This record gives sequence, C-alpha cells and structure tokens, in this order.
Amino acid sequence: MANRKRRLTARNHQEAYDLWASHFDDPALMTNRDEKATAKKKGRIAERLPLTRESRVLDVGPGDGALFRLIAPRVGECCGVDPSQAAIDKLRGLLRDMDNVEFVLGSAPSIPYKDEMFDVVVINSVLHMFDSRQDIVDAMRELVRVVKPSGVIYVGELPFRSELSKGVLPHLGRKLYEYGPGALMRLLWTIYIKPLLRREPMLTYPTGNLHVPKEEFEVLCAQLGFRIRVWRHEEFRRPSLTRNDYLLSG
Ligand SMILES: C[S@@+](CC[C@H](N)C(=O)[O-])C[C@H]1O[C@@H](n2cnc3c(N)ncnc32)[C@H](O)[C@@H]1O
Repeated sequence: MANRKRRLTARNHQEAYDLWASHFDDPALMTNRDEKATAKKKGRIAERLPLTRESRVLDVGPGDGALFRLIAPRVGECCGVDPSQAAIDKLRGLLRDMDNVEFVLGSAPSIPYKDEMFDVVVINSVLHMFDSRQDIVDAMRELVRVVKPSGVIYVGELPFRSELSKGVLPHLGRKLYEYGPGALMRLLWTIYIKPLLRREPMLTYPTGNLHVPKEEFEVLCAQLGFRIRVWRHEEFRRPSLTRNDYLLSG
C-alpha cells in the first residue's frame, strides 16, 4: 500500500475516488461494493446497451472498471475517461491484457476526444457527484458532442429526488430495502470492516448528492435533441427508490 495514514479526508466525491484509487489495494474499494452482486447489477446494464463487435464505446467515470470489463470484450474499442490519474493507472494495470481498451485523463464536462467519435457513451453513477446542476448540463452537452448522430447515450443511476438531505439514516434505510440485508452487510464489510482489519485508512468526506427530477432531465435532453427511454434503476434486490436510468437516442 502506498500510504499508511490512518485517516483520509476528501473535500468532494472526485477527490474521494482519487484517494480510494491511490491509497487502497483492493480495486472494489474504489466504488464501495460487493463484487459478486455488482457483477450481476452491471450485467443488467450491459444487456441494455446496443453493443456490437464494431462499436466504439466511451465509459465516462469507469471507477473500478466493473461495468467497463463487461463491455470491452463485446465491442471493437472501449475507452474510459476519468479525472483521477490514480484510477487510470489502476485500470490500465487491471486491464493490461485487453488490447482494445484505452484510459485517458479528463472530466465529463471536458472530454479529450473529437466530435462524433462514439457509437455508445456510458455515464453510470457519476453525475450526482458534481458540484452543481450547471456541471451536469455541461457534461450532457459534452456527451452529445462526442457521440455519433446515430449513437446512444446511457445515463445510469441519476437520482431524481434528494438522497441525503434528511441525513444518513433514512438513506441507509432505503439501501436496506433496495439491497437486502445480505448485500448491505457485505457492502459495509467491504468499505468499513475489511479496511479496519487490514489497517488500511478510513476515508471520510462531508458531501451530498445532486439530483435532477425526471421531468427536468427530459426537458434538458429534448433541448439537446435527444429522445429518452427511462426506467427505475435496478438495485441488488429491488428497484431503486431514488434513481432512474435513461437511454438517450437522437
Ligand atoms: C460511483 S463510481 C462509478 C463507477 C462506474 N461508472 C460504475 O458504474 O461502475 C464514480 C466514478 O466517477 C468518477 N468521476 C468523478 N467525477 C468525475 C468527472 N467530473 N468526470 C468523469 N468522472 C468522474 C470517479 O472518479 C469514479 O470513477
């Protein structure tokens, strides 16, 4: 492990993911989760995407690559953009055997690729981490810029209502309902208990999650020239009480 500091504090989500990637050995810690249940959940997302052997795909904010790893073997080329250099280094190492993948440093509102390069653009569980709604609008414009006119954009796990405004306990109650006790316990084990036992650092960060009501997101997509299909995000056990998934096409 690179650092033995016992307590790490991040100022925002972006910094938290950078610290996870640089201070923890276990890649699953970068996205806080239970690997087996996650693979099932990400599998459902991959099934919804129109992937072919010729597709060029961009995954914005790939995290520990759980979704990326399911997409890459099914397509011609798969690229990941993330603002964390540590995350990129880790992903390059983890996926070094795949020759159709590329990871570059960048941010959703500023993607270092040319216009209309991708058949499918995926941004899953990322937009709620931004500082403002304007950042979400800027990111959506950028996703539209890099997707081909015939392509699709998948926006996953976007909260349509506030998740943390009433504090952590109601949020934890919802997670218990959505995940079921087993998956929630495994998740708590992964993010708190296991690092404690391994004497890895504790990461804390005082920040909330943004949300965009469905009607507002529909208006934004229409302004960008896209139709949307929307459904409730499927959590480990039940549909999410706070998050939608969207598939945008021109
Ligand atoms: C919860 S993880 C999601 C991981 C992955 N998309 C998935 O669904 O498995 C959030 C990811 O968003 C990335 N992220 C944070 N801010 C970002 C930004 N401005 N642009 C792109 N990615 C960002 C983080 O580094 C992290 O990799």
